[in-house]
Amino acid sequence: MDHFLYRDGSLYAEDVSLAEIAARVGTPFYCYSTATLTRHFTLFDEALSGMDHLVCYAMKANSNQAVLTLMAGLGAGVDVVSGGEYRRAIAAGFTGDKIVFSGVGKTREEMTLALQGGIRQFNVESEPEMERLNAVAQMLGLVAPITVRVNPDVDAKTHAKIATGKKENKFGIPISRAREVYARAAALPGIDVIGIDVHIGSQLTQLEPFEAAYNKVKELTHELRADGHDIRRLDLGGGLGIPYERSNEAPPLPSEYGAMVQRVLGDLDVEVEIEPGRLIAGNAGVLVSEVIYVKSGEEREFLIIDAAMNDLIRPAMYEAHHDIVPVVEAAPGSEKVKYDVVGPVCESGDTFAKQRDLDVLGEGDLIALRSAGAYGAVMASEYNSRPLIPEVLVQGDQFAVIRKRPDYDEMINRDIIPEWL
Ligand code: LLP
Repeated sequence: MDHFLYRDGSLYAEDVSLAEIAARVGTPFYCYSTATLTRHFTLFDEALSGMDHLVCYAMKANSNQAVLTLMAGLGAGVDVVSGGEYRRAIAAGFTGDKIVFSGVGKTREEMTLALQGGIRQFNVESEPEMERLNAVAQMLGLVAPITVRVNPDVDAKTHAKIATGKKENKFGIPISRAREVYARAAALPGIDVIGIDVHIGSQLTQLEPFEAAYNKVKELTHELRADGHDIRRLDLGGGLGIPYERSNEAPPLPSEYGAMVQRVLGDLDVEVEIEPGRLIAGNAGVLVSEVIYVKSGEEREFLIIDAAMNDLIRPAMYEAHHDIVPVVEAAPGSEKVKYDVVGPVCESGDTFAKQRDLDVLGEGDLIALRSAGAYGAVMASEYNSRPLIPEVLVQGDQFAVIRKRPDYDEMINRDIIPEWL
């Protein structure tokens, strides 16, 4: 459930009309709902309420400082994957003991930053990383708390570009080698082994792959404990999918996911962490755009809008579906037209939808691309010298610009012309 609903035929974010925001901020823009973000975090938190747990928001989905500040205030932990994300977490008020550091390529600088600034744990993804972390920690006179990310060789049954739990993927160490790697970890003075980490992919729409992975982690917990390791925390990753198409069957709910986690792992006497990103932010955001032209091609009607692939790359990159709705609805029973919804960028891939049934739309009309709160703004670029678009946060009847649209000078003046030119 989200808080983007029609009132008298006009689409609202909570109690604010999107048309009003468009008039004040200009298009295109991202708009997020505080109530939806809060609700989604709370659903996960409640789903695990029977266990010792921490919901660590995966900020890669949406790392705006306002969103992070909201999450920190709700008591969330946070999953970061770079020094930049670590700094964002600290700036938003997360303390080190709530920050989990994931990622396959952590550098010395990033390790130092997190060790000195405070860290809940590093999720170590390889032996060379573990050796380096040990060296960095020893040099600083500190000890790094770690889990090792294991790759359980489970098919997540999601898009190939966002599946991470098969043995051909670059993530984690093969679960078959885990005991060897943990034995090495125990011998390193700069390393404190506290648990196991697993993350098999994103936009999972079934519970079975999670359950298969968690059962393997459970078995490994017993084995590692028998080897003498004090396994007290399991990081179960993120990945629960969201309904992108209202017309399709919805993926399992956080409550169902939580019940499965409790059923599989409830008797292990461990603290559980999860790292959801998409489910918290995805349906808490829309991308609002204006129709520039309606162009009649030989066989198609093109709706050319002022948002483009540089603003929301998911359709171009993953063939992702985003529902598209008019900001002002036509009267019930009105005619529908099949449109190809495209942006102004000079690539055929700059297409948001093909042959999509929509109300008849014209120049100046506003549309909303739904489910755009996760992996939308964070993956945007300035391709075609299109400045990053603003982000707006709504709470009740108020809204605030939480990232402003840069002016063109800001964009141009970032470049430096060498004096010899
Ligand atoms: N933890 C780790 C270690 C991850 O790699 C990810 C996502 C998450 C948590 C959060 O997963 P989520 O709950 O959001 O599914 N750009 C792609 C998604 C990439 C996901 C990468 N890792 C997209 O737009 O679909």
